[in-house]
Amino acid sequence: MDKHELPFIQDMFETIAQRYDLLNRTLSLRQDIIWRNKLVQTLDLSGNETILDVASGTGDVALTISSNYPSVKIHCIDFSENMLRLANQKIMKSHHLFIHTVCADAFDLPYPTDSFHAATMAFGIRNVMNKEKLLRTLYSHLVPGGHLLILELTLPEIKALQDIYLLYFKKLLPVIGRMVSKNTFAYHYLPDSVISFPTSLNFSKMMKAAGFRDVKWLTMTGGICTLFSGKRPLA
Ligand SMILES: C[S@@+](CC[C@H](N)C(=O)[O-])C[C@H]1O[C@@H](n2cnc3c(N)ncnc32)[C@H](O)[C@@H]1O
Repeated sequence: MDKHELPFIQDMFETIAQRYDLLNRTLSLRQDIIWRNKLVQTLDLSGNETILDVASGTGDVALTISSNYPSVKIHCIDFSENMLRLANQKIMKSHHLFIHTVCADAFDLPYPTDSFHAATMAFGIRNVMNKEKLLRTLYSHLVPGGHLLILELTLPEIKALQDIYLLYFKKLLPVIGRMVSKNTFAYHYLPDSVISFPTSLNFSKMMKAAGFRDVKWLTMTGGICTLFSGKRPLA
């Protein structure tokens, strides 16, 4: 893996894939479903678009889009074969016809530039070192007017809430994560990666620097998840 990515990320997801969905639902108290639904509502689709879902993991973003817009074409990419294997099983069961998965690195997308009406990335950009480069890559793969939506775990802005959250996040979450996934490292890394993610203001500046306009963000569940939105300008 090149220097755009921390070297252990791919292996970590290969290892925890089997328990990923269960832990997602449990540790977020099923809020993750609400967050992905909000992302899909914000996409504001007509129904015929082609969408790129980056770091698609076990396919939950694509399946949520497809449940709402069955004829939208969705291309999912992720570099973890194990995560994609689970995505493919879920896609087959759901009978959604227009979801395609490809094992690929987000920095080396196997698609021509200017090809997607929207790009989505849920809980993936936190793991990427060179966020600026990834944002530029996504920008170039959108058509003019295309929409980028990024969901990411963030810290509550209210200090008292942040203290309580950090207690849960740093003490309890790693214990549950280790018990269920049998991976000690992954669920210690998770809080660290959220703490070191840029503030929403700084991340929105990165999006603007990559060329996006109309950049906004929406905090959810007291600020523990943020939905970032930006558009590639028409001209
Ligand atoms: C926390 S999971 C998120 C999965 C999914 N988007 C969701 O909503 O649950 C992060 C995913 O990003 C993938 N990932 C991280 N860096 C990547 C990269 N550079 N290229 C492709 N996939 C990447 C990991 O393999 C993992 O499946």
